Amino acid sequence: MPFMRGLRIVGGNRLVGSVTAHGAKNAVLPILAATVLCHGAEIKNCPDLSDVAVSCHILRHLGYAVGRQGDTLTLHREENGCRDVPPEWMRAMRSSILFLGGMLARCGGVSLCPPGGCALGGRPIDLHLSALRQMGAVITEEGDTLRCTAPSGLHGAAVKLPYPSVGATENLLIAAAGTPAETAITGAAAEPEITDLIRFLRGCGVTIEASPGAILVQGRDTLSGCTHTVLPDRIEAATYLAAGAVTGGAVTVKCDPGHLAAPIAVLRRMGCKIKITGDSVALTAPEKLCGAGSIVTLPYPGFPTDLQAVFMAAAAGAKGYTAFTETVFPRRWAHVEELRRMGADITVAGSHAMLRGAALTGTALTCTDLRAGAAVVLAALAARGESTVTGLSHIERGYAEFVLTLRHLGAEITIAEI
Ligand code: EPZ
Repeated sequence: MPFMRGLRIVGGNRLVGSVTAHGAKNAVLPILAATVLCHGAEIKNCPDLSDVAVSCHILRHLGYAVGRQGDTLTLHREENGCRDVPPEWMRAMRSSILFLGGMLARCGGVSLCPPGGCALGGRPIDLHLSALRQMGAVITEEGDTLRCTAPSGLHGAAVKLPYPSVGATENLLIAAAGTPAETAITGAAAEPEITDLIRFLRGCGVTIEASPGAILVQGRDTLSGCTHTVLPDRIEAATYLAAGAVTGGAVTVKCDPGHLAAPIAVLRRMGCKIKITGDSVALTAPEKLCGAGSIVTLPYPGFPTDLQAVFMAAAAGAKGYTAFTETVFPRRWAHVEELRRMGADITVAGSHAMLRGAALTGTALTCTDLRAGAAVVLAALAARGESTVTGLSHIERGYAEFVLTLRHLGAEITIAEI
């Protein structure tokens, strides 16, 4: 087996200290996709992630010059660019599909293949396609290629999403912003990352009225650019709070506490003391966590599916029971097998997982996707003995400076050839 870049972790250290959440991956990716509507833009607090790098490759292919100074990206359109997104970049991440709406609005057509992304048990795009068809898009599937055109341009529509899909809401919102008509979206997702996309589009001159689940867009033919600062990553912030919790530590995270109500409530149920200020959350963990009772993942403001694996790792060594119900990605259990190999006592039945706290022991572990990767690292930090973790590239898609940050908090973790 050839060596792979991975992690070597020795468990048992309490994590103590303060960290700052980076810009949110799931906000900056749709915002970068929306820049195809503009001649240029400046994006501040942009995290340095491999998914962001893929978006920049796609934008260059579509005719944009992209520069980075620290955490600021500057983009401007140099030429009309291509009207396709190469398959290797479509398959590299789920968010590549978000270029569809903007390209249809701006140049009336684009060819692309279905997107890749974390293997969470199927990532269909039917809601994206049916929503855009209601705006006049003609989308035909030719083998693995989607030929998407808007022969007489997109038109305004009243679209009701049957499920508050984050990506479908974003694709529709971007298409509507670049269509000089009124588009009403109901049944929309209301994640903070969508609010941040709306803030960006308003900055580019689009009139948008929004309330939870409903968005009214007066789109425009051309959008000015704007300078936008990306909101803090709530999933990253909660991951570091959970790292403090699972190691019996004391961690403060600079973030937006208003986006963390559901995970904070669970951490309190598990026995953590939590102090909240305007822009930070300070957690002090008990010697040993208690089971969290029932955790049900739901669209925002419910408990985020992206924290299900991370909180399962935190609960794995706790006293007592935690019952997970995964309503967003019902088969998002790839991390369970890895935690079981450390001694976790987990029973899965359909979209439910019942966990009884048990002592965890370090072993050889694998990241199967971004959040599952963060979960196995947290479990290894709390486990007895040493662990190795392969598949580091999954983690680097969504956590900037992950190892550096954990070492700053006192973790014994190093990057190594495994
Ligand atoms: C976004 O994915 C996030 N990704 C995910 O984060 C997050 O887990 C998810 O929203 C839910 O919050 C980004 O923002 C880049 P959905 P998305 O469309 O848009 C079904 C991470 O770890 N569905 O809200 O793909 C779908 O199968 C990632 O950062 C359809 O059936 O999520 C799922 O069951 C993982 N048809 C549910 O809806 C569609 O056309 C929610 O998906 C679209 C979705």
